[in-house]
Amino acid sequence: MNEFFTKFCELEPAFIFSDIAALDPASGGSSVDAMPYPVALEQLGCTRITTLDIRADSRASIKADYINWIPEQQYDLVITNPPYLIALEYIATALDDCVDGGFVVMLLRLNFFGSIGRRAFWKDHMPLYCIVHAQRPRFNGKSDSVEYCHMVWKKGFNPDNTKLFIV
Ligand SMILES: C[S@@+](CC[C@H](N)C(=O)[O-])C[C@H]1O[C@@H](n2cnc3c(N)ncnc32)[C@H](O)[C@@H]1O
Repeated sequence: MNEFFTKFCELEPAFIFSDIAALDPASGGSSVDAMPYPVALEQLGCTRITTLDIRADSRASIKADYINWIPEQQYDLVITNPPYLIALEYIATALDDCVDGGFVVMLLRLNFFGSIGRRAFWKDHMPLYCIVHAQRPRFNGKSDSVEYCHMVWKKGFNPDNTKLFIV
């Protein structure tokens, strides 16, 4: 997570976290666990953070199904670790909820780039950056032996190629 933000800040120095409105639409958290992205965003100086999750026991301030949620505003940054089975719907919804020139960031398996079903999506929505984590993240204390990356889309910008970095 920290490696991602360090690289993102290096790539996008004009993106000032203290000036932006951010949304984490799968914030997670519980009575014992913090919400990882909102904590990281706060550490970067972001104060306008909307948190949403479908789980009643999440720490998110809004309890809703993100795919059917109607936001009252658009966000400069939509960032999360989406539920895997509906990750594509999450990305499409996040792009709708993002301002032009803003960023959508999703933690995904690197092999999410594969599959015939997603080929058409990449044609119209190629991420600007793919930031691969050399160290596999651990979920609930375990690694699932799969490479993960943060894919970064810039709303309104559809590059022919993704720039890949390993952090
Ligand atoms: C992979 S977890 C990520 C949680 C947290 N962001 C993290 O990184 O630890 C996905 C989260 O999405 C939530 N979720 C699943 N489907 C959802 C939906 N349709 N709308 C909103 N939240 C959803 C789950 O409750 C879960 O907390």
